[in-house]
Amino acid sequence: MLLEKIASLLEEVNQLKAKNAEDVEQLRLKYLSKKGEINGLMADFRNVAGDEKKTIGMKINALKQLATEKINALKEAVASTDSQEDTLDLTRTPAPIALGTRHPLTIVQNEIIAIFQRMGFVMADGPEIDDDKHVFTMLNFAPDHPARDMQDTFFIEQSDPNDVTKNILLRSHTSGDQSHYMETHQPPFRILCPGRVYRNEAISARAHCFFHQVEGLYVDKNVSFADLKQVLLTFAREMFGKNTKIRLRPSYFPFTEPSAEMDITCNICGGTGCGFCKHTGWVEILGCGMVDPNVLEACGIDSSIYSGYAFGMGVERITNLKYRVNDLRLFSENDVRFLKQFTSAR
Ligand code: PHE
Repeated sequence: MLLEKIASLLEEVNQLKAKNAEDVEQLRLKYLSKKGEINGLMADFRNVAGDEKKTIGMKINALKQLATEKINALKEAVASTDSQEDTLDLTRTPAPIALGTRHPLTIVQNEIIAIFQRMGFVMADGPEIDDDKHVFTMLNFAPDHPARDMQDTFFIEQSDPNDVTKNILLRSHTSGDQSHYMETHQPPFRILCPGRVYRNEAISARAHCFFHQVEGLYVDKNVSFADLKQVLLTFAREMFGKNTKIRLRPSYFPFTEPSAEMDITCNICGGTGCGFCKHTGWVEILGCGMVDPNVLEACGIDSSIYSGYAFGMGVERITNLKYRVNDLRLFSENDVRFLKQFTSAR
């Protein structure tokens, strides 16, 4: 009889559960208090025969110990869930997530691209690590011509000492993308080549060993210099405001003939003259010209049927003008105090 009671209490105790501190207290009263179930066994224990007292006494003790442990464990468990409930405030606003901003060069590059896309240009790209053939030779830079000094760059490999066209190098302009494109496409096409370029320059406020360009190329029948001028005027007005004027000065590039540098009226003083434009009222923003027939021929395009124009600008230069950044190095230092100033720029 007593043994059965002990066994059934053991089973009960093993399955004790509690949701909160109150349940635990009820269990403690039920099993462990003076008037509880386990003490209640003592009345029957007194009647147990002497030789059984030892084993039954041990069983009652084991039951008591198990009940104590079990109830203490439940006490701890509900205490930890209770305290979690207390500190978890679901109505609290979360910690703010620090959102990044677009890099100023990306903002300006996207703006340049958007303007030319509205005029029908499509995107083309090419490798940053390229060969001499595409960056220089196909663009009418003769192997030993001093024009190569205009764009000294970083050479990665000299595959054949007797053949400079095989040299592997970091592209010094994205015009290389244009030779890749012309090699594989026939006119008409109107392409835009944005990207990072490299030059062997000492780093200063005004020059860096890498920068970004957007170059454009249009090849078709009867393309004229007037087409080039109108497209560039439209670009300058969209980028810097409708009162912007342009001026083209004769220049030299091996891949264009005739070639020109384009200035715009200084958007800082409005053309009246200031320190930024060295009191001339004009600032240079890009190089351009009619594609040299030698370039078309080198790329497999018949220059007796087709003509074209090309232009190229530095994204840093346009950004400096638009946002009056006076040190090129700021663009690559990754200082968030600088970069955050462009949060509202788009
Ligand atoms: N590729 C020239 C440069 O990087 C820019 C340019 C492009 C000039 C196309 C004329 C025509 O300096």
